[in-house]
Amino acid sequence: MRTLITNGTVVNADGSYQADVLIDGETIAAVGAVGPGGGLVGSLASALTGSGADRRIDAIGKYVIPGAIDAHTHMELPFGGTFAKDTFETGTRAAAFGGTTTIIDFAVQSRGSTLREGLDIWHAKAQGNAVIDYGFHMIMSDVTDDSLAEMDLLVGEGVTDFKLFTAYPGVFLSDDGAIYRAMQRTAKNGGLILMHAENGLVIDIVAADLVAAGTTDPIGHGMARYAIFEGEATNRVIRLAEAAGVPVYIVHLSSRDALDAVREARDRGANAFAETCPQYLFLSLDDMGDGFNGAKFVCSPPLRTSDHQDELWNGLVKDDLQVVSTDHCPFDFEGQKELGRGDFRKIPNGLPAVEDRLDLMHDGGVVGGRISKERWVEICSAAPARLFGLAGHKGVVAPGADADLVVYDPNRKHTISAATHHMNVDYSCYEGREVTGGSDIVLSRGEVIVEDGEWKGTAGRGRYLRRTATGGAIR
Ligand code: URP
Ligand code: ZN
Ligand code: ZN
Repeated sequence: MRTLITNGTVVNADGSYQADVLIDGETIAAVGAVGPGGGLVGSLASALTGSGADRRIDAIGKYVIPGAIDAHTHMELPFGGTFAKDTFETGTRAAAFGGTTTIIDFAVQSRGSTLREGLDIWHAKAQGNAVIDYGFHMIMSDVTDDSLAEMDLLVGEGVTDFKLFTAYPGVFLSDDGAIYRAMQRTAKNGGLILMHAENGLVIDIVAADLVAAGTTDPIGHGMARYAIFEGEATNRVIRLAEAAGVPVYIVHLSSRDALDAVREARDRGANAFAETCPQYLFLSLDDMGDGFNGAKFVCSPPLRTSDHQDELWNGLVKDDLQVVSTDHCPFDFEGQKELGRGDFRKIPNGLPAVEDRLDLMHDGGVVGGRISKERWVEICSAAPARLFGLAGHKGVVAPGADADLVVYDPNRKHTISAATHHMNVDYSCYEGREVTGGSDIVLSRGEVIVEDGEWKGTAGRGRYLRRTATGGAIR
């Protein structure tokens, strides 16, 4: 099957140009510039002589971009006595509607279990269900001699990153010694440590004080988790990584304080990387203030006061933040977020976002004049491909890459709403927000899976991505 996408503007992280894209089977066979007379030139012209194309997609007035990569999702994550509501089927389908064709989800090592047991559970959840390609990071809850040895095996299987936490005492928190030991191991096996950096021990004290003083509404979650606690933990884990001589990646960075720590580290030459998420760019602590309704916005780190947002945008512009991921972790308001009525500490942490990221970043970033369309592709697609061992296959429109492509209409307007989204969750954090830009046609490895708002894919067609360890060679 050969598909030719004609007349579009190919947007890659390193530039844009008018070009046609020829797909042969699952890969991009040729990308050809259009000559002055409108004819095809170069490799595309020669590739097309002979059998031609079986299908043509006219992309006039549209961008042709690499399918987006969401490097931070939690399908079916167990949290606070319940599970994130999207399965690999519903969550990846929603992702595809939003122009995302790859996710990297977090497999979980539960306390007392092995990494292998946790990873096998995640493979079983995803296999036969995911509709787009997927990889796994590994959450490490127990750092022991055995789990350290298992890290090497996982790196060999393409699970090349390990998330550790300075937050969630008693559940995921690792002490500094454990974090340092895991870093020493990635210095040898080429993996990458991802850090949830908030000082969870101190946060728990402030949270308990707030509850004792009568603040039990969701706003207490935002009040307890000071930005300074994120800044302190971010600086600490970067310092530990520098001592261990390894790169480190800060996940879901939310505040000026944490960004300062990353910026200072990068300025002194440290191999420190970080992502932020749409919720920290578009939402604020004010959203948490509407009584228990604020539970819809409870995530960790929490939403910040709106004065942090410009700093984060600046971080994206200046490359102190390299990636925007979602931290997609949806819980219904009814029945799930409600577990925390009367005590904000019991509200399951997490927000739905996997479907909205690309459009929010286009609307707020590109249309909003903050970033170029090339930077938009960089932070949503090319940078995650490079950092997480998918370069050459994903995140680029180029011959030889997987034909994960989006025909993106930069002018289409739509209003985000739980009534129309495809995520399996009963609310939207962006309810009623109009955005400019939307995915018209989404292809995954050459197959059209979304076309003009209609689902064309099949459950289970997504493939596990065995990723390559990037080690320190990602600067
Ligand atoms: O609130 C969040 N972020 N929930 C998901 C778990 C995590 O820490 O990433
Ligand atoms: Zn986290
Ligand atoms: Zn997360």
